[in-house]
Amino acid sequence: MGSTGRYQVCCIGAGYVGGPTMAVVAKMCPKIDVTVVDISQRRIDSWNSEEESELPIYEPGLKEAVVNTRGKNLFFSTDIDGAIERANMIFVAVNTPTKKDGLGAGRAADLTYWELAARRIAKIAKSPKIIVEKSTVPIRTAEAISTVLNASGTTKFQILSNPEFLAEGTAVRDLENPDRILIGGNLKDEDGIKAVGELVDIYSHWVPKERIITTNVWSSELSKLVANFFLAQRVSSINAVSALCESSGADVDEVSMAVGMDSRIGSKFLKASVGFGGSCFQKDILNLVYLSESMGLKDIAEYFHWVVRMNDLQKDRFVSRIIHGLFNTVTGKRIAILGFSFKKDTGDTRESAAISVCQRLVDERAHLAIYDPKVYETQIWQDITTASKMDRLELEKLVHISSNPYDAAKGSHALVVCTEWDEFRDLNFEKILSIMEKPAFIFDGRNVLSHEYLRKLGFVVYAIGKPLDPRLNVV
Ligand code: UDX
Ligand code: ADP
Repeated sequence: MGSTGRYQVCCIGAGYVGGPTMAVVAKMCPKIDVTVVDISQRRIDSWNSEEESELPIYEPGLKEAVVNTRGKNLFFSTDIDGAIERANMIFVAVNTPTKKDGLGAGRAADLTYWELAARRIAKIAKSPKIIVEKSTVPIRTAEAISTVLNASGTTKFQILSNPEFLAEGTAVRDLENPDRILIGGNLKDEDGIKAVGELVDIYSHWVPKERIITTNVWSSELSKLVANFFLAQRVSSINAVSALCESSGADVDEVSMAVGMDSRIGSKFLKASVGFGGSCFQKDILNLVYLSESMGLKDIAEYFHWVVRMNDLQKDRFVSRIIHGLFNTVTGKRIAILGFSFKKDTGDTRESAAISVCQRLVDERAHLAIYDPKVYETQIWQDITTASKMDRLELEKLVHISSNPYDAAKGSHALVVCTEWDEFRDLNFEKILSIMEKPAFIFDGRNVLSHEYLRKLGFVVYAIGKPLDPRLNVV
């Protein structure tokens, strides 16, 4: 207990995982104090902002959860040491990107932030603490972290793995009603069992007991990576099928419906698309690849890797369709990009397929007009500049950010849908057709539009995994 006599939870890392997770813990456990800390003053300021629109991330239902608890039992702060000192339990939800340099570059997870957080805890903590791994980490991270934490030998730490399965865009719903809560701990040790019990108690405030499962630490760490592999594998599999559909005249939505109705297969995650994105899928799979390689399991690594390679091929295939469709050249042509986030209902662009699509079109010297309802303009510029070989000045001659879809469409040769935002279904396509160059093309990378209706209006339409429009130039 802290000096207030209330149970104190601290979360290091106020990002996509830490922020929403702790907002829901605070909402569901009014008797527990939750402090979320971060090294970024800007991030903390925006979590504390009175302006509801200024929360650092957009998630349906998040504003309400934060506004109702902030200042009561939910606190955002940069006083990391103070929060560590007071805490009974410390969640670590810092970022673990793929390593850019050195051993394992491009595959292994970069644990720099994790290690820094662990060293901070080791330095500051004076009383026993339970440390909970929230960030996705390679297996055996808990063991390594335990070595760092317990090196001084003065304070005792119990390390638990508690991977987060929330998906962006539905984070609050997923947190409030999770399929399962997975807790990995040392179940052979009395203190380990006690620590697991404390975390189970927190979740038991709102999650039915039968949905809270406990395993050993490594099973828990590995399960998170494997869950993301299985999900991504389904998307890559249906995307492979989409190529087959286009060549054979089958319809990928009909195939996934027929296949998904088999209760052993299930219907979710069988939506063909321009490619999966997000901060987890690629990173976690590459992590599995690295892990397998480092265990000498070359063929297994290859198997995992194909899910990411298929995703890259799908993005390439989509861009090729655009270029060939537009009579084999897009140079100097204006193309409207609808959607930039990696999926709808989030402003997150990490690994978004839109980034690759834009980068490849810009390489071809196309002129892009990009519209997304939630992604900030600065983020789009940052992503495009990072992905492209060109500098900002050169890019400014080619890329324009539009404030609405009609502005983007005006004078365009093609509309390219990269994200499945609901609002795109309800656009006034008669108006759009009238302001576009002719022939007007639509490339629907998410199969969200009414293709037959659009063809009747006069558009030439390409849709992923659908019988090809006879007017589309195909190579
Ligand atoms: C994922 C996992 O779902 C979640 O459990 C984990 O905690 C983090 O990684 P997230 O990346 O937020 O969540 O989104 P998700 O809904 O899984 O979508 C990932 C990508 O796959 C998106 O780009 C999405 O558009 C794409 N996708 C998903 C498809 O292309 N087709 C589908 O059928 C499903
Ligand atoms: P995720 O999607 O995993 O939540 P984010 O990048 O959204 O990743 O959030 C991670 C957060 O962790 C960032 O706000 C970053 O500033 C913070 N962070 C990273 N390292 C530390 C650290 N050592 N101490 C406190 N906060 C940290």
